[in-house]
Amino acid sequence: MNLRKVRLILIFTLIPEILVLGFFIFSRTQSPPAAGKPIADSMEIPRPAIVAHRGASYLAPEETRAAYLLARELGADYLEGDVQRTRDGVLVLVHDDTLERTSDVARVFPGREKNTIETFTLAELSQLDFGTWFNEKNKDRARDRFKGLRVVTVEELIQIAESGSQSPGLYLETKSPERFPGVEADLVNLLKRKGWLSSRKCVGDILPGDSTAKKIATAGCGKSRVIFQSFEAASVKKLRELAPDVPRVLLVDQEMEKKQGWNGVVSEAVQMDAHLGPVGYLGWSWYTGPAHRAGRLVHIYTINSTWQLWLLNQFGVDGFFTDRTELALEFFARAPKPDVEAVFSRLVF
Ligand code: G3P
Ligand code: CA
Repeated sequence: MNLRKVRLILIFTLIPEILVLGFFIFSRTQSPPAAGKPIADSMEIPRPAIVAHRGASYLAPEETRAAYLLARELGADYLEGDVQRTRDGVLVLVHDDTLERTSDVARVFPGREKNTIETFTLAELSQLDFGTWFNEKNKDRARDRFKGLRVVTVEELIQIAESGSQSPGLYLETKSPERFPGVEADLVNLLKRKGWLSSRKCVGDILPGDSTAKKIATAGCGKSRVIFQSFEAASVKKLRELAPDVPRVLLVDQEMEKKQGWNGVVSEAVQMDAHLGPVGYLGWSWYTGPAHRAGRLVHIYTINSTWQLWLLNQFGVDGFFTDRTELALEFFARAPKPDVEAVFSRLVF
């Protein structure tokens, strides 16, 4: 091989490595990977925070008792849910505006499948099956026990978070709050009544019956045991007025970023003393950097694969909304690979 050929081979094999290295060096100048740690530590928010998006919703039907119990037992730092209100004023956890995707509303209440949640009473919602759709859509993860799963109220979620072997916090979104006037006050009052707006002393970090095993999730014992979130700035502001000590997150989608620009979004978050919950592609270090410099944490949604967790962690993201609690905890070496069957077998739902 002549010298020219060797030189060409070297150039073509080295250029990609040099570019990648250059990118990561540049990235670190924009935001060092641990820049958010002092902010998270001061608030007693685990970092990276593993937020069970709609519960452990890869393995069980979203926002059902099965998904939340599983997320808790796996060790998620926070149980995430979308708060809406029934016609008779009960706060429930449902993601969509309507029930048609995640329940058998079309069968039980024909003609009402396009109706929004606030047109149903709790008694009506309780007649619906929120589990069978999951079995039909995900044959590989289907379980007979999911059939007939009922809607979960916020009060029931609180009870789930307070029981069991782990102590997760609650990460609650006011979903389409313009349809539920006063939902922020309802939520704050419920949490207050249940003692969730004052700090909680956990007995210890050792699991009952095991003198060596450490608790994985303790966010429910810290001063940030509840975090509020919303895409609606007005709702975040209201939550701040009603419960100033509870951390809040302004969720950011593509449209908001396009309209306001990232710096505009960060300024808005600073004004309402909120942190940021952007959609996944806004996790690059040139987004996390300005957020951290403004004293804001970045909790990103919805991250379900290890390459995304790795990359976004390099960019300094402080927390992940994920359907895959089991994967994220294992990836960050917070918990060994779980025996999901064994966990399911001891859950009652
Ligand atoms: O709450 C974070 C993330 O859940 C926002 O998206 O649509 O899943 O509620 P969505
Ligand atoms: Ca949500």
